[in-house]
Amino acid sequence: MTKRRSSGSFAALVDSAKVVVCCGSGGVGKTTTAAAVAIEAARRGGRVCVITIDPARRLADALGIAGELGNDTTRVVLPEGEMWATMLDARATFDGVIRRHARDEKQVDRILGNQFYVNVASRLSGSQEYMAAERLFELHNDDRFDLIVVDTPPSREALDFLDAPQKLMNFLDHRVYRWLIAPARGGLKVLNIAAQPILRTIGRVIGADVLADAIDFFQAFEGIEEGFRARAEEVQTLLRSSETRYVVVASPRHDTVNEAMYFVSQLGRTGVDTSAVIVNRLQPRFGKHSATKLRGEIKRLEAESPDSDELVLHRNMADLVAVADAEDKSIEPLLTFADSAIVARVALRADDVHDLTSIGSIGREIFGDH
Ligand SMILES: Nc1ncnc2c1ncn2[C@@H]1O[C@H](COP(=O)(O)OP(=O)(O)OP(=O)(O)O)[C@@H](O)[C@H]1O
Ligand SMILES: [Mg+2]
Repeated sequence: MTKRRSSGSFAALVDSAKVVVCCGSGGVGKTTTAAAVAIEAARRGGRVCVITIDPARRLADALGIAGELGNDTTRVVLPEGEMWATMLDARATFDGVIRRHARDEKQVDRILGNQFYVNVASRLSGSQEYMAAERLFELHNDDRFDLIVVDTPPSREALDFLDAPQKLMNFLDHRVYRWLIAPARGGLKVLNIAAQPILRTIGRVIGADVLADAIDFFQAFEGIEEGFRARAEEVQTLLRSSETRYVVVASPRHDTVNEAMYFVSQLGRTGVDTSAVIVNRLQPRFGKHSATKLRGEIKRLEAESPDSDELVLHRNMADLVAVADAEDKSIEPLLTFADSAIVARVALRADDVHDLTSIGSIGREIFGDH
C-alpha cells in the first residue's frame, strides 16, 4: 500500500508532541525554524524550551543566551507565551550525570578529577551525542516545560544521538569494559592491570600515564553503570516515542534537497518517521496567475501597449513565477520521498532573520497562520 501525505497540520503535530527535533543540512535554517516553532508553540499556550546549537550572534542575543551559560535555561521575553532557551553544554551535562549516579562525593571527585575524563572521555564524539540526548531527556522531565524544541548541528552525523543510548548500553556490556572494571571488584589496583602484557603495549603507544588514568576512570565507574544503563534505556525510549517528532528542514536547491532526503532516510534507518518537512527560503508568490496565463497577458500587452508599465510589471511577475515554479520542481523529489510528512513552507525574507519578531512571523507561517 502506498503511503499518503498526512492531511494533518503542523499545528496539530506540535500540539500533540512533547519533543520536536529540527534537522537538516548546513545553513538551511534549522536554528531559525527551531526558534520559530518554539515561539509559535509558546504563543499558542505551551511552556516551551528550545535547545539551540551555535545560534547567530543576534539571535543568541534576542534569546538571551549569548556568552557562556553552561546548562542554564534562560527565560525569553515574548509578547505572548512562556518560552525558555538553552545551549547544549555536553561537558556540564556529563558532570551532572555523574553527580546523579555516583554513590558519594568521593566517587564524584574521583571521576570528575580524572585526567582521562577531563581530556578524553567527555570530548569523545559518542559521549557528546549521548549527552545531547541525555540533556533532552532532562528538559523533557522538567515540570516547567510542556514542549522541548531541539536544534541540531550542521553535520551529516547530527542524528547520531539517536543511536547514542544503544551504543552506551553496548559499551557497558562490552567484554573489554567488563574486564577493565572487573579487577576493581576484586580489589586489584590499577597498576596490576596496567602490568598486563597487552596493556603494557597500549601504554607504550598512548603513554603509561594516560593508560593509568583511563583504567582508573573506568574503575571509578564501579557501581554506577547500572544507573547509566537504566537511564540510557529511558532516553532511548523517549527518542523513539510517538511524542517525539522529527522535522527535516530544507531549502529549494538541488544540493540541499538531496541532503534533506539523506536525513529522511537516516531517520527511517533508525526507525523513526519524518513527521514534517519545512521548506525554507522559498521565493514568495505574488498573485495567483500561472506562468502560462502571464505569458499570454505579456503577448497581448506587447501587441497592444508595448510601452506600458503594465507590461513591465507583467514581465517581472512572470520572472518571479518562473523562479517559484522552478523551486517547486526542485523540492518535488523530497516531498515524494517523505510522502507521509506534513509540509510547511516559509518564504525567503528580504533580510536576515535574527530578531524575535521576524522569527515569530516565520513561526506563524510554519503553523499555517499568516
Ligand atoms: N526564510 C528566511 N529568509 C531569509 N533569511 C533566512 C531565512 N531563514 C533563515 N535565514 C537566515 O539564514 C541564515 C542561516 O539560518 P540558520 O542559522 O537558522 O541556519 P542553520 O541551518 O541553523 O545553519 P547551521 O547549519 O550553520 O547551524 C541566518 O542568517 C538566518 O537569519
Ligand atoms: Mg544552526
